[in-house]
Amino acid sequence: MGSDPRPDRPSPKTGRHRTIIEPFKIKVVEPLALRTPEQRALNLKRAGYNLFLVPAGEVTFDFLTDSGTTAMSAAQWGAMMVADESYAGSQSFERFERVVRAVTGFQHVIPTHQGRAAERLLFSVLLQPGMKVPSNNHFDTTRANIEQLGAEAVDLVIAEGRDPADLHPFKGNIDLARLERFCSENRGRIPLGMLTITNNTGGGQPVSLANVRGAAEVYRRHGIPFLLDACRFAENSYFVKLREPGRSLSSAREIALETFAQADGCLMSAKKDGLSNIGGFIALREDRWLDRLRSQLILTEGFPTYGGLAARDLEALAVGLEEVLDERYLEYRLATARYMAEGMNRLGIPTVQPPGGHAVYIDVKAFLPHIPPHEFPGQALVCELYRREGVRSCEIGSAMFGKFTAGKFIPAAMELVRLAFPRRSYTQSHFDYVLEGLASLADERTSIRGMRLSYEPPYLRHFTARFEPLGPAESTP
Ligand code: F0G
Repeated sequence: MGSDPRPDRPSPKTGRHRTIIEPFKIKVVEPLALRTPEQRALNLKRAGYNLFLVPAGEVTFDFLTDSGTTAMSAAQWGAMMVADESYAGSQSFERFERVVRAVTGFQHVIPTHQGRAAERLLFSVLLQPGMKVPSNNHFDTTRANIEQLGAEAVDLVIAEGRDPADLHPFKGNIDLARLERFCSENRGRIPLGMLTITNNTGGGQPVSLANVRGAAEVYRRHGIPFLLDACRFAENSYFVKLREPGRSLSSAREIALETFAQADGCLMSAKKDGLSNIGGFIALREDRWLDRLRSQLILTEGFPTYGGLAARDLEALAVGLEEVLDERYLEYRLATARYMAEGMNRLGIPTVQPPGGHAVYIDVKAFLPHIPPHEFPGQALVCELYRREGVRSCEIGSAMFGKFTAGKFIPAAMELVRLAFPRRSYTQSHFDYVLEGLASLADERTSIRGMRLSYEPPYLRHFTARFEPLGPAESTP
């Protein structure tokens, strides 16, 4: 995967090979849905030009999310067969707990069915209306779970993290000066502080270990518990190894442990770096919230030794959390997004720089400047990527965040399209094939037209909204 040797390359091995290969062979396969552009055009029409409403069986390359879409290993499937499905005290939980403790260093482990369940649980125990929770950037569900309790989710990412073209190596870093000020100004109103590694909202951008340590010091000085949103902790650790001065000789595992050592606990959606299709957890150093968390867990998720998961899921996670720290895997994993971003850039498709760990974000404002934000350029591009190439991607722009206020349209700050890559699922030839198709899309970009919104639901518009393509006479030039 990839041939560009710099800057994200560990020291050369033999010097004979430049290609970073998929470090696995394939034992189980599923067919790709191959359709013609005409069939896909029909699918789009039926789905109201909303890719969330296109059946997955009609998608060839599904880059909607990297969450829960991992291909599991033979070792994971094998472990699932020996799972102990006992209601209480399952041996599978013991194995899962042992691995979480070893990887994170946190003693207390509460399983949940996915990340947002961990968020809801923790915040329902810690938050009151009027409180504030700082982070670099909160993920959507984290923000929603904070805000539905009447508290405020505050983003304090560094300025470089908000500039799509900036090449800062750790664009996920939190602004430590602003964090210090924020903590001083809101004394007594911050029940916990967070950091998301990697920073998904900001483009899957890593956070340096120095920044994690700096944030920990600020939080400690103010007596604020510090929790990591750690769903891509292994990818973050490998970025640290590649990019942070003095870290190249540490293993990803050591870096992960050192990262967790700065915090009091973590929230985890294990559907990402757990290399599993479902699962999550809260892990904590101390037991002070434990009783309340476990009571809440029993109310809505399940007994504390399964937390909404089957024991076979716990087994898959126990194996996945170890496999994800394999550096051959991580080298290949980070090469995927880099390879796609560089390939697109060569075709003149601008992407958020530098590429993050799990996804490539197309800067649609720069790519389709002829479509104004109120005509949803990101949505138009998402549809075109599907119609031409069978690629499913996700609009993160005005279709998701734009607002109509008093008859006026207020666009999103950025018009992005995210291609998030499932782990261990697609090969380099798949990515090459997609890039070949993108060449003609890039050449014909001026023929892409905007869209109008034809149905808007009251909440979370992007999941169920419907659109219509604008005719040539309707488009604003
Ligand atoms: N935190 C981060 C940083 C995430 O990226 C996600 C999910 C969650 C929490 C919530 O976890 O889905 O298991 O409930 N991100 C997915 C995505 C949905 O596509 O980026 P969950």
